[in-house]
Amino acid sequence: MGRAWTVLIMVEQPIRVAVNGATGRMGKALCRLLADDPRFVLLRAVVSPQSASKAMPVPAGAGQALCYASGWDDAPALDVVIDFSSPAGLGAALAHCLQARVALVAGSTGYDATMDERLRTAAGRVALLRAANFSLGVAVMRRLLREAAAALPDWDVEIVEAHHRGKRDAPSGTALDLGAAVREGRGVGPDTAAYVFDRTLLGAERTHGTIGMSSIRGGDLAGEHTAMLMAAGERLELIHRTTDRAIFARGALHAAYWLSTQPPGLWNLEDVLARPRAEGG
Ligand SMILES: NC(=O)c1ccc[n+]([C@@H]2O[C@H](COP(=O)([O-])OP(=O)(O)OC[C@H]3O[C@@H](n4cnc5c(N)ncnc54)[C@H](OP(=O)(O)O)[C@@H]3O)[C@@H](O)[C@H]2O)c1
Repeated sequence: MGRAWTVLIMVEQPIRVAVNGATGRMGKALCRLLADDPRFVLLRAVVSPQSASKAMPVPAGAGQALCYASGWDDAPALDVVIDFSSPAGLGAALAHCLQARVALVAGSTGYDATMDERLRTAAGRVALLRAANFSLGVAVMRRLLREAAAALPDWDVEIVEAHHRGKRDAPSGTALDLGAAVREGRGVGPDTAAYVFDRTLLGAERTHGTIGMSSIRGGDLAGEHTAMLMAAGERLELIHRTTDRAIFARGALHAAYWLSTQPPGLWNLEDVLARPRAEGG
């Protein structure tokens, strides 16, 4: 008598994702990558309420007919929202994620302290990962800078960043985050290590302990960051140059895949690099 065998194959369902800011430089790069990534299915491509693209078909990222949507009304069930839009766009995406209990990868920069507090509070209820820069190289640069600032506590620090002419915030979120790494390394807060953005308003002399920040804007530069540590007679520089902004999109997708199985909390890229993805996604 023959035996009947039952073979059970566990197939992981694709992660249901929305892109917020879908017509932007980053949003388009994300939609292109999502089109070829079987781990995900793009179900919503959100644009601003004023966008000329709303209700138009999304050119990449959907096997099915998908049109750009303005806002979050009638959004389908989702696992993760990936945001690269604007402070206002991030606020709207956050409200939806809280209401629908959806994880959020927050890539927008240039938001204020109130939004920062909203993100921190929201992380008590949903899994939230934010990074001012989704590049692996910048994550390592941050770590190296923290170490260098700790090892050279009296050296002057200046951070210079350069981006394309269309960037709306200055200094970049990455430059501010590198400044935070300096403060972490030295164990000091804003009172001891204040940022100086414009020396024309100050006297000629550099105030000891301050962290200088300069921004350059032009052309189509995807992003460059230089951290200089200077003492009498010597200078140490850490430089990161982005030549293709697709690295941010790839980093954000990697983060979204990792975040989709995480519990509520405020996560960052270092967490993604340090811990394997949890089972059960
Ligand atoms: N973390 C990182 O690694 C990283 C890397 C690059 C950029 N960024 C940041 O990501 C953000 C976007 O960058 P980008 O270069 O893609 O800028 P961008 O080309 O200007 O795109 C932003 C897009 O967001 C859309 N948008 C504006 N308000 C919105 C709203 N309320 N709701 C939904 N969508 C809205 C805009 O289009 P519509 O008006 O057509 O909707 C626009 O296409 C910026 O804050 C930038 O600094 C972060």
